[in-house]
Amino acid sequence: MNYRHAYHAGNFADVVKHAVLARILDRLGRKDAPYRVLDTHAGVGLYDLAADEALKTGEWRGGVGRVLEATPSPALAEFLAPWRQALREVNGGDHVLVYPGSPAVATALGRPQDRFVFNELHPIDADQLAATFARDRRVRVTAEDGWIMPRAQLPPEERRGVLVVDPPFEEAGEFDRLVRAMRDAHRRFATGVQLLWYPAKGAGAVADFHAAVAAGPVRRVLRIDHWIRRPTVDGPLAGAGMLVVNPPWPLADEIAGVIDELAALLAAGPGARGRVDWLVDEDGRPAADA
Ligand SMILES: C[S@@+](CC[C@H](N)C(=O)[O-])C[C@H]1O[C@@H](n2cnc3c(N)ncnc32)[C@H](O)[C@@H]1O
Repeated sequence: MNYRHAYHAGNFADVVKHAVLARILDRLGRKDAPYRVLDTHAGVGLYDLAADEALKTGEWRGGVGRVLEATPSPALAEFLAPWRQALREVNGGDHVLVYPGSPAVATALGRPQDRFVFNELHPIDADQLAATFARDRRVRVTAEDGWIMPRAQLPPEERRGVLVVDPPFEEAGEFDRLVRAMRDAHRRFATGVQLLWYPAKGAGAVADFHAAVAAGPVRRVLRIDHWIRRPTVDGPLAGAGMLVVNPPWPLADEIAGVIDELAALLAAGPGARGRVDWLVDEDGRPAADA
């Protein structure tokens, strides 16, 4: 386990992933009934942007740094509002020194009645994660293999909630594991929202992954892909994506309306763009070119 998210926290991919997560939680929070967030690969939760790791790569400058300097359109500003709220919450104001990872986005937007299970296998990161949330009684931190969590932890008592699966993609087979996690979660908690993240690493691998999901049986699978530059064979990561199962209305339309602007705002070269469509629709029909 070599991957440490501290080098990448707040980068372009984090911004899009966390903005989508925040938007999902904002929607779930509009009903009083409690929800649960199960984050299988949680990282440490909060990231100091002045730490050595963050300074070494400076990736956050092309992500959250870019967004903070931009003047987005009203539609994009509205889309980003829940995530911006989470940023403000963990920083105690508009000056961003600390970047909230997925667990901290979730707790910042969660209400007293909501519950959070954050899992992280790396022992040092798991300890740090537990320390960060030690005083938050809504949170339980575990240090298991995240791939067993959908089977072990679903369905949640609340019968509402979000599964976040955000693996490091440092080992072969992670796309296959993502498909399995999605199906396991669907079997146990068919109405739950799922957010499954992946890097745009190897067009063939991503296409195979999409095809496996499109083969069923999970329905209502929204695909959100975005690129900050034109992909090249051995170049740096050019994009990322996520599949959202059961996206709360009207996330699909909202993100479709802003993804190109968001990709342009995060652009690192020519070819920045976004793509949003249903990989599998309500009736189980795969998209035409899945
Ligand atoms: C991309 S990072 C997660 C970032 C986090 N979800 C966020 O958005 O802030 C992936 C994390 O998965 C952890 N990890 C790697 N293999 C794991 C496994 N089998 N089970 C649980 N966590 C694992 C890594 O240590 C790393 O912290």
